[in-house]
Parts: sequence; structure tokens; C-alpha cells
Amino acid sequence: MVVLLYDFQDIIEESSKLNHFTLPTHKETNLKLEYKNIDDFVNLSTNSSVIEPPLPFAASDVFFANISHHRRLTAVDNSCKDVYEVTFDIQGSNFNFRPGDTIAIIPHNTGQDVNLITDRLNLGTQLNVPYKLSCINSTKGAKVPANIPVESTLSHVLRYCVDLRSVVKKLFLLALSRYTKNENEKRILEYLCSKEGSVAYNTHILNHGVCILDIFTMFKSCKPPIEVLLSNLPKLLPRPYSIINTNKQNRNELKICFSVITLNNRKGLTTGWLEELISNDLNIYKQMENLSICGNHDKKVPIYLRKNLLGFSLPVNNENPLVMVGPGTGIAPYIGFLEERQIIKDKYPETKLGYAWLFFGCRDPLLDFIYEQELNNFIENGTLNKLSTAFSRVSGDGAKYIQDALIENGEDLIKLIEDGASIYVAGDLKNMAVQIKETIIKCFMTHDNKTEEEAKKILCAMQNEKRYIMDSWN
Ligand SMILES: Cc1cc2nc3c(=O)[nH]c(=O)nc-3n(C[C@H](O)[C@H](O)[C@H](O)COP(=O)(O)OP(=O)(O)OC[C@H]3O[C@@H](n4cnc5c(N)ncnc54)[C@H](O)[C@@H]3O)c2cc1C
Ligand SMILES: NC(=O)c1ccc[n+]([C@@H]2O[C@H](COP(=O)([O-])OP(=O)(O)OC[C@H]3O[C@@H](n4cnc5c(N)ncnc54)[C@H](OP(=O)(O)O)[C@@H]3O)[C@@H](O)[C@H]2O)c1
Repeated sequence: MVVLLYDFQDIIEESSKLNHFTLPTHKETNLKLEYKNIDDFVNLSTNSSVIEPPLPFAASDVFFANISHHRRLTAVDNSCKDVYEVTFDIQGSNFNFRPGDTIAIIPHNTGQDVNLITDRLNLGTQLNVPYKLSCINSTKGAKVPANIPVESTLSHVLRYCVDLRSVVKKLFLLALSRYTKNENEKRILEYLCSKEGSVAYNTHILNHGVCILDIFTMFKSCKPPIEVLLSNLPKLLPRPYSIINTNKQNRNELKICFSVITLNNRKGLTTGWLEELISNDLNIYKQMENLSICGNHDKKVPIYLRKNLLGFSLPVNNENPLVMVGPGTGIAPYIGFLEERQIIKDKYPETKLGYAWLFFGCRDPLLDFIYEQELNNFIENGTLNKLSTAFSRVSGDGAKYIQDALIENGEDLIKLIEDGASIYVAGDLKNMAVQIKETIIKCFMTHDNKTEEEAKKILCAMQNEKRYIMDSWN
């Protein structure tokens, strides 16, 4: 656990200087949960395979897919992330996708996380008892949260319906403080959601991604009724992943790659689960030297296709030049772009394809240069015209970010944009995507004598024309 209670020493000191905290208005939970006899139910929702609609951005039904292949893409080394590629067998799904599309994976909470909650709230004996959930006061249109079935069991709700890893909001902390017996712990929780503690909230909660699991681990006397959790925990949402392959070669395969997130000593819900699914296979086949092994197991992953609302796809006109920017797993959608171009090239050799330029960044070419072999092949056969790389953790003064590679190639980049190139940016939105935009603005100012305002206008116009497209997230 990264954040420990003793880390709150500064808060104890800061808050002890104050007699009074300015707290947000506390609202008691309006939910009432009653355990019932099974005969009282008409519509009991406890089936794990029933995925409650609406599914965000769904462009298909949910399909339970087997992982048919998997391989590790990075070295086994603490200096880089664990990145894997998995292939889903989608035979029978009717999935029709194009390069640039994404799927969503529907995760579920781990048994360990659910146990932490149920142990703290002493819910063990009630977990599988059917309940009915209602509002104590139904005036002013109060409703049971849409993500929680009115009739179900807590074991179903805690496993499939609520996000136990989401960062705790201030009102949630306030509600929790009302059910925290230890005075020190209560004071810390109150301070964190007060006006005076807003900096402390950002540093201790937001920046560390502290969730209810962390709160229960750190604040031993915090023991709210389950209704407080059901009122405050957001819906457990599906996680999007870029599709790597084109379906023109094999309609029954869909590939993604993912890097395993680790936060507060916990693996990401989806990436940790996928890694566990393939690790089970790895244990069975650990004798095999080649990590790119095939295995069939029953553990199916619920996936669906997402709408490509941003228009992150190849230009309609094959002759348009492309600039693709994607550090780390941000490269994923471009492998599909390039596979599709290669198919066009092989099938219709007379087709004129626009210039394709890829900017890729990773830490060290020996550790995490994912898809290096594939990119070299694309370069060799002329599907990709130029590959510019940036390695951030190599020794000497060669270490750089993808933005540096853009600056170094600024003149040619601006020429290509003026020739009608479309720019694609995939990856982290908060830092990388913002900085890439600033970098291209700088390139316009340096190589095309534009003012900052003019350069911004050009990029804005490109965005409106869907010639500057970001598939980014944070
Ligand atoms: C359009 C789109 C396409 C995407 N494509 C891919 C893809 O191809 N490959 C891929 O690996 N991911 C991709 N992502 C990210 C992916 O959807 C998940 O967010 C990511 O895999 C983490 O999911 P998780 O359930 O494992 O982690 P969670 O359990 O959701 O993560 C736990 C906590 O970790 C924090 N966190 C999440 N992601 C990161 C991060 N990258 N760095 C630091 N902290 C983080 C959050 O605060 C979160 O609360 C994409 C996202 C979008 C929106
Ligand atoms: N379509 C999509 O939206 C999409 C698709 C796939 C992946 N993703 C997301 O894209 C991100 C890439 O993640 P990853 O884990 O694969 O990458 P990563 O391994 O963390 O990073 C790849 C490289 O980018 C560098 N980097 C870090 N911050 C940067 C910045 N602000 N600007 C430019 N480069 C930066 C890293 O350098 P250092 O580590 O040395 O700082 C490293 O060299 C993830 O957040 C992933 O989930 C999005």
C-alpha cells in the first residue's frame, strides 16, 4: 500500500491548528435495503452473465470470447511495463470492425476486493440473501441508482455493478466520516473533504488514486452501512481497448494489446484479470520455450464493439498522407492501419497510397519496443514510409520523448501537413496528447512563420475537418 495512515501526519498537524472545518452539506443516504424471502421476488437479477444495459458507446451485442493466443510484448524486466497481446476468438459474434475501432471489455471486481468490503461490513451471512432496495423518501423524484438492481443479492452487486477502485469523492468521504468511531480517523476524513483541506485532498486522495478499498485498509474504525456504499460508488464501467488487427485476413480473430496497470500495490481490474487469465495458461505451458503459445480454456471475456464516434480511421482517400503518433501501447491502432494498407497494396498494386509516417516512443529499444519486427516488415515492403523513434530511458544524452522527434522532423512534418496529411494521436490524453499538440504548434511557428494564434487556428480547422484526430484517454 503506497498511502499509509502515518502519511497523514501532515494532516493531523495542519488540522490541529483549526477549531472548525468548513464541510460540504451532508446528505443521509436515501436508500433502504431489506433482506427478503426468495418467494417475494419476481425479477431477481443475480445472473453474472446478464450484463445490464445500457452499455456505453455499444455498436454490437456482448460476446463472451475465448482467448485463443497470447504473447508477451515486452522484456521481463522491472524497468519496463508488462505488455501483452491477446487474440480473442470471435467466431459466431458477427463483429464487423475496421482499423481504428475499439472494443470494450466488461470487468468484474475481484473476490479479494469484495471480501475486503464484506469483512469490514460483516456482510458474510447476507451476501447471497435476496434483497429489495428502495428509497426511504421518494419525494423530489429520488430513485435507486440506475446501476444497482432493485432486487438482487449483495454478492452480485459487489461483484458486477459498483466500481470499488474509483477515487473517493469528497461527499463520500464526508458520509464515511459519519460512521468512523475513532476520533483521529474521523477528523482526518473530515479535514480531507473540507474547504480548508482541499490541497490535502488533491495530494493524498486524488494524486494517489485512493479508493474505498484503501480507505477501509487505512481507517480501521470506518464501518458504514452498505446503503452508504451503494449511494456513493459509481457504476463499474467497461474499459476500452484499441483493436490491433484488420478483419480482412481472418474474420474470427480480434487482437488487442494492453499494459498492466499497478496502483497502490493493486493491479488494474481489467489488465490484472487478463494477465491472470493468460498466466494460468503460462503456468501450464511454462515448459514451452516459445511464449507465443496457443491455449484453449473456458474463461471467457465479455467484450463488445464500440462506436467510432471520433472518426479514428484511415482517410477515405488512400492517397492522403498519414502521420501517426503513438507512444507505448498507443501504437495499437496503427498496426491495423498498416495491415490494411498492406492488403490494399498487395491486392491492388496500381493503387497510389499516401506517404505514411509513424512516430513511436518507448523506454528502451531492448526492453519495450513493441511490434518492432512488424514495423520493420512494413518499412521493408513500403507499407510504412518512415519510422521515427524516441527512447526515453537510454543512457547517454540520447534519451528523448516523441515530442523531441517531432521537433527534429518539424520541417518535413509541416510540409506533409501542407500536402494534406491527416494526423493521428493515440495514448494518454492528460499529458502526452496535450504536449503533442503544443509541439506541432511550435513546428508551425518555426517552419511556417505562423504566429501561435495562427498555428492554433490551423490545428483547430484540421480537427473540424477530421484531419487531426485524437484517440486519447486519461
Ligand atoms: C479509446 C481508448 C482506447 C484505449 N486503448 C487501450 C489499449 O489499446 N491498451 C491499453 O493498455 N489501454 C487502453 N486504454 C486504457 C484502458 O481502457 C484502461 O483504462 C486501462 O487498461 C486500465 O484499466 P484497468 O481496468 O486495468 O485499470 P483500473 O482498475 O481501471 O485502474 C485502476 C486505477 O489506475 C489508474 N489508471 C488507469 N490507467 C492508468 C494508466 N495508464 N496509468 C496510470 N494510472 C492509471 C486509474 O486512476 C484507475 O482508477 C484505452 C482507453 C481508451 C479510452
Ligand atoms: N487509443 C487509445 O487511446 C489508446 C490505445 C492504446 C493505449 N492507450 C494508452 O496510451 C498510454 C500509453 O501507455 P503505455 O503504458 O503503453 O506507455 P508507457 O510505456 O508508459 O510509455 C511509452 C513511452 O512514452 C513515454 N512518455 C511518458 N510520458 C510521456 C509524455 N507526456 N509525452 C510523450 N511520451 C511520454 C514513456 O516515457 P517514460 O516512461 O520514461 O516517462 C515511454 O517512453 C496508456 O495510457 C495506454 O493505456 C490509449
